Amino acid sequence: MANIILLGAPGGGKGSQAVRLVKQLNIPQISTGDMLREARAMGTEMGLLAARFMDSGELVPDEVVIGIVKDRLAMEDCANGFILDGFPRTIPQAQALDSVLGELGIALDHVIEIAVPDGQIVPRITGRRSCPQCKRPYHVQFLKPREGNLCDDCGVELIQRSDDTEEAVTVRLASYHKKTAPLVDYYKKAGKLRVVDGVGEMEEISARIFTILA
Ligand code: AP5
Repeated sequence: MANIILLGAPGGGKGSQAVRLVKQLNIPQISTGDMLREARAMGTEMGLLAARFMDSGELVPDEVVIGIVKDRLAMEDCANGFILDGFPRTIPQAQALDSVLGELGIALDHVIEIAVPDGQIVPRITGRRSCPQCKRPYHVQFLKPREGNLCDDCGVELIQRSDDTEEAVTVRLASYHKKTAPLVDYYKKAGKLRVVDGVGEMEEISARIFTILA
């Protein structure tokens, strides 16, 4: 059983590492970004509201994301653990998570910050591609698919996210430093924080994370 939060800047590798953890630990990845993109693709009221914030690189209002995470954590597949990827992102979200977990009688095991310098973020994000079907992440330079622009697993054409532009990344990074970085102190004070160097080969970073979880 492992209840894990992955913290870190946009493009820092949370999603890439979460996919590896899911395979090893057999627990679900809960990505608020993916959930919001799904709601948007379905054209729900919440999804359309979120789209405005996401495209400009701003955070979606706390009450929207807190609601979706609360419902998701109560699902049966979280009973043996979960990997929160991209949530919490503000102090009010972290406080809301504490109370939801308290209500569900669940304790957090690890908060892992994947630390990557800002200078590496823009090339990582602007070169990112992903599979619209299985969500597997790729990169035009660092993690190419085997064939053309096709997902290795699904064979479908990879896509680029609408917020993966240089313009939106600047806003996302600023928002990270202002609103999300204070969570490092929040979880340090709670004795939960572990920091992993997020620079290097993806396998090396996975190995660093597994050392913490061992
Ligand atoms: P979200 O989807 O969560 O995006 P993010 O946090 O900005 O993170 P990313 O998905 O961009 O990056 P990542 O850390 O997962 O990196 P990845 O592994 O893909 O959120 C999007 C938006 O939704 C937000 O801006 C906001 O509007 C809204 N939102 C979501 N959650 C919210 C919340 N809780 N509250 C409010 N609003 C919320 O890696 C990036 C690229 O780098 C990939 O191409 C990968 O192949 C490559 N890469 C990874 N590791 C390495 C490495 N070691 N070396 C070289 N390349 C690497």
